[in-house]
Amino acid sequence: MSEVKPERNLALELVRVTEAAALAAAPWVGRGDKISADNAAVNAMRFILASVDIDGTIVIGEGEKDNAPWLYNGEKVGNGKGPKVDVAVDPIDGTSLTANGQLNALSVIALADQGSLYSPKSVFYMNKICVGPDAKDAVDIDAPVAENLRKVAIAKEKRISDLTVMLLNRPRNDEMIKQIRLAGARIRLIQDGDVAGAVMAARPNTGVDLMMGIGGTPEGVIAACAMLTLGGTLQGRLAPQLEDEKRNAAAEGLDLKQVLHTHDLVKSQNSFFAATGITDGELLMGVRYEATGATTQSIALRSRSGTVRIVNGEHRPEKLVGLLNSIG
Ligand code: FBP
Repeated sequence: MSEVKPERNLALELVRVTEAAALAAAPWVGRGDKISADNAAVNAMRFILASVDIDGTIVIGEGEKDNAPWLYNGEKVGNGKGPKVDVAVDPIDGTSLTANGQLNALSVIALADQGSLYSPKSVFYMNKICVGPDAKDAVDIDAPVAENLRKVAIAKEKRISDLTVMLLNRPRNDEMIKQIRLAGARIRLIQDGDVAGAVMAARPNTGVDLMMGIGGTPEGVIAACAMLTLGGTLQGRLAPQLEDEKRNAAAEGLDLKQVLHTHDLVKSQNSFFAATGITDGELLMGVRYEATGATTQSIALRSRSGTVRIVNGEHRPEKLVGLLNSIG
């Protein structure tokens, strides 16, 4: 039997999946309970994913860090009728943002041909640098921070002082923050959510020129899928922070010196990415409730065609009730 390739625009199907997860998480916004928010998003994502025409295997799942019972690495997803694909999920990127009602929490999913997504195994942290198409040849994760900023400024026809770099606000990024300030660029520190940060760095008119610093490896692989459509680049290097992460990396034979380029993180030209806003953000509007139901805003990316779609959804109250009842 000939292999089925993902020719259809699965990104639009994936929007249904992230919409459902965002709609399920939205009632938990600001309620201080990130576990319940995440459980609701996971269940809704899994429920809708079961109806999508793919023969998928989760390779980036809820797994290791969250100890989740569903959407774990190796779980089969989809209805089994379509192409064989690797699936990367992040039902909520920004569980704390959701629990605290802060900006830029997203529900995200990406997929690509089977065997093409990088597996970070048990190394959760990765150093990353991410820019859009106009500066994709200007960055080198091995170069000093000031050198990267100088080259990005030239590529974008700006001064270094006009650049805004987005980073996760973590002590492990303090040295990089210092270097960026010394070079004279502006900084936007975020509490969580570096998938949104990477996509913002690669989209026009977001006010973000680069995303840098150490964040999650799974989020890096998911963002790399988005880069294939957006034409930007994400370079990374595994950066284990915890002692057991370092031990596991050695035991698993992971090369901590290797520069992981976008094409190492996604070894395919055929990737799909979808995200829906849970809370409001610069990238996407969050879930909002009106008398007539709820509204969502999503982004759908398909690398083969390079098409970027912003999808506004209007969802009737009975559909919301149906979804919430179905996931229990
Ligand atoms: P969660 O939604 O799972 O909490 O992850 C959010 C996030 O901020 C990611 O966007 C980021 O890559 C990672 O966590 C950073 O990890 P840590 O919070 O351990 O610094």
